[in-house]
Amino acid sequence: MRRFAGRVALVTGGGHGIGRATARRLALEGAAVAVVDLDIAAAQAVADELAGDGAAALAVHCDVRDRASVDQAVAESVKRFGRLDVLVNTAGGGREQPAFLDTGDEFWAALIDLNLTGVVRCIRAALPHLLAAPEGGSVVTIGSVNGMTAVGSEPYSAAKSGLQNLTVNLAARYAREGVRFNLIAPGTVRTRVWDRHPESLRRLSKLYPLGRVGEPEDVAAAVAFLASDDAAWITGVILPVDGGILAAGPLGSLVGPEESSA
Ligand SMILES: NC(=O)c1ccc[n+]([C@@H]2O[C@H](COP(=O)([O-])OP(=O)(O)OC[C@H]3O[C@@H](n4cnc5c(N)ncnc54)[C@H](O)[C@@H]3O)[C@@H](O)[C@H]2O)c1
Repeated sequence: MRRFAGRVALVTGGGHGIGRATARRLALEGAAVAVVDLDIAAAQAVADELAGDGAAALAVHCDVRDRASVDQAVAESVKRFGRLDVLVNTAGGGREQPAFLDTGDEFWAALIDLNLTGVVRCIRAALPHLLAAPEGGSVVTIGSVNGMTAVGSEPYSAAKSGLQNLTVNLAARYAREGVRFNLIAPGTVRTRVWDRHPESLRRLSKLYPLGRVGEPEDVAAAVAFLASDDAAWITGVILPVDGGILAAGPLGSLVGPEESSA
């Protein structure tokens, strides 16, 4: 499939984990990709990898917490590739946090700034270009199941929840102008953020109805779908990519396979 032939994508947080897998998937399907990250060495390594596979790729340094840095990164990408069709907002993080009563205002501000306002900055900078995209623009934002239900880490989870409302509002506002906005809410995904918690990862794997935690490629496949013309009539959607954990809920483990009637 080359659903992105002739299209240009910008992936924030493209240097590692879910962002890296997404950059690889979009490039594999024909996109020119701007790999945008705070970690420029990682972004460069991904861009080199994509170029080695024959894709057009560019590494751009950016801190999504800084408006000038975001504006500059988008401008640099558009200057190089001449257009922008897809924005994927992956940069974010910070699940590890103190107990609720120990979270101060500065901590809240930092988590909201990175995970919510950072996405706002990227959308604001990219939108004029997405509105000009000949076949329409698409924004896919990485939220979290944390934004959908109670799993703790309140500042991070509240920011992720805010992304959902941002997504549906912008979807409604810009649908008639040809830009779609969708959000993916991943469950536990095996990236470096879990490296220091192998035991938690093992424990969590057992809770997922589909029998494992997610891989970055599971999320990348969903991003590629929502960003592509295959999803041309889909906007304002919050899509869990979560191995069935939200569907099952806390009582899900009680639901076993049906008895065979044979
Ligand atoms: N891994 C999971 O279990 C999981 C689950 C649900 C949601 N998510 C979300 O998925 C996204 C990616 O997470 P991941 O697990 O791949 O993490 P990761 O740490 O592997 O990747 C995050 C990337 O974002 C970049 N980044 C961080 N701060 C930045 C900044 N200020 N400006 C620009 N780039 C910045 C990092 O350098 C890194 O390349 C995050 O938004 C995270 O909240 C992850």
